[in-house]
Formats: sequence, C-alpha cells, structure tokens
Amino acid sequence: MFTRAIVRKPCRAMLNGLSEANMGDPNYALACEQHQDYINALKECGLQVTELPAIEEFPDSCFVEDVALLTPKCAILTHPGAISRRGETSHIEDAISEFYPNIERIDSSGHVEAGDIMMVANHFYIGLSDRTDVNGATQLINILAKHNLTGSMVEMSELLHLKTGLSYLENNKLLTFGEMNTHPDFTQFNRVEIDGDEGYAANSVWINDTVLVPKGFPKALHKIQQLGYKTREVAMSEFQKLDGGLSCLSLRF
Ligand code: GLY
Repeated sequence: MFTRAIVRKPCRAMLNGLSEANMGDPNYALACEQHQDYINALKECGLQVTELPAIEEFPDSCFVEDVALLTPKCAILTHPGAISRRGETSHIEDAISEFYPNIERIDSSGHVEAGDIMMVANHFYIGLSDRTDVNGATQLINILAKHNLTGSMVEMSELLHLKTGLSYLENNKLLTFGEMNTHPDFTQFNRVEIDGDEGYAANSVWINDTVLVPKGFPKALHKIQQLGYKTREVAMSEFQKLDGGLSCLSLRF
C-alpha cells in the first residue's frame, strides 16, 4: 500500500530536457495539463500528494523518481548519471525530510538514477544502465542491507532505465518489454509481454490495486485489465517526448 506521493511541476525549460525520442518539442501548456491529470489520478488511488514547484534551472526536474529512492524503511538520495540532473537531489531533500528523519545518500564516486530501481517487496532490482553504474549500485545495496533490505544488479543494454521496460504489478505479475521479455533475472515472475509497438506502456504504475497506464496503448491496457486490475489512463505525450514514463513523474511511498 502507498499513502503518499511527491511530484514536481514541469518547468518551461523542459523543452531543453534530455531526450533521444525524436518526437519533437513538448508543448508546455499541454504538459502542465497532463501533469495535473496525473496528480488527479494519484489522488483517485487514495494518495496524499505533495506538489513541489517547478525549477527552471533543471529541465528534467519533473521526473522526480530518479533523484531519490523511498522505501518503507529509509530514503536514499541518488547521484544521477546524467550530469545535468545532479543538482536536482538537493532540491528534493527538504520535501523528503518531512517524512524520513534520516536520509541516506549515494556519494559522488558512483551513479544511480532510481528509474533504474524496481521494488519487489523487500528486494530492489537495480539496472546497470548509462545512468546507474556498479559503484552506485554497490553503495545502494550496502545502504539497503543496513535496513534489512536486499538488492541485486541487473545487466541491461538497450533501455534508458530498468523501468523503461519493466513494471511490477504486485502479485508476482511483471510487465516486460524488449530485452526484459527474456531476461534471466525475472524468470520466477508471471511475465506479461507488452507488444513492441506499445513498448512505452511497459512503464505502467501499480498503486493500491489500480494500474495507471499511459493513454493510447489499447493492447497493453487490455492485457493489464485481463490480469484483473482496475486501470486509469493518463495522457503522457508531452513527457514521452522527453523519454519520461509514468513512474518517472512521482515518488510513491
Ligand atoms: N528526460 C529524462 C531523462 O533523460 O532523464
């Protein structure tokens, strides 16, 4: 169960955000509208939402998921692999300290972005991507161990972040896409493959038995509904242009 979420309003500078999507520039007004609907969806799932203001200095700062890992036992500030995103962590710290008295942190010798981390009960899968390295993942596993939590590293080569191609929907159900469809680390799960032409929907978000699904991916929506979940579609076109998925837009805890 999650009870809270933290989000940050997109900034006008989001047009300069990191992207390899080649889908054109985001429309800021539409992005704000979509972000508001995302907040509405979180609230419909029963979450209390802390809404942080936009920071123009950091174009990607609405993607708050990457800069912290919030677990039931501890909060960990990351050290993003993307240089332009490193300053975002200090901006999230105040919001997190309201809920977590002791905040752990990844030091600057390693890199972690929490879009690379998937929580399954007390275990945390950590994707080794261009944004998260072995040093950062090792630091993270050591911090988790102090809190009786475990972590393991996941080799990957194609995706931006681990959760670009994986979403855990609880009850042993895992959405997969691309290289994650056959990845040996996830054979124990009931895997549901998202079709290649709807890969963006592999980043869907389980919240208290509702699954948020990006709008416009009917086959993925149907598959998730067939698993027995209530679904809530959220339009994400403007964030997709910046390689951002549904999970990236919030910290849920
Ligand atoms: N544009 C989101 C990211 O690349 O981190």
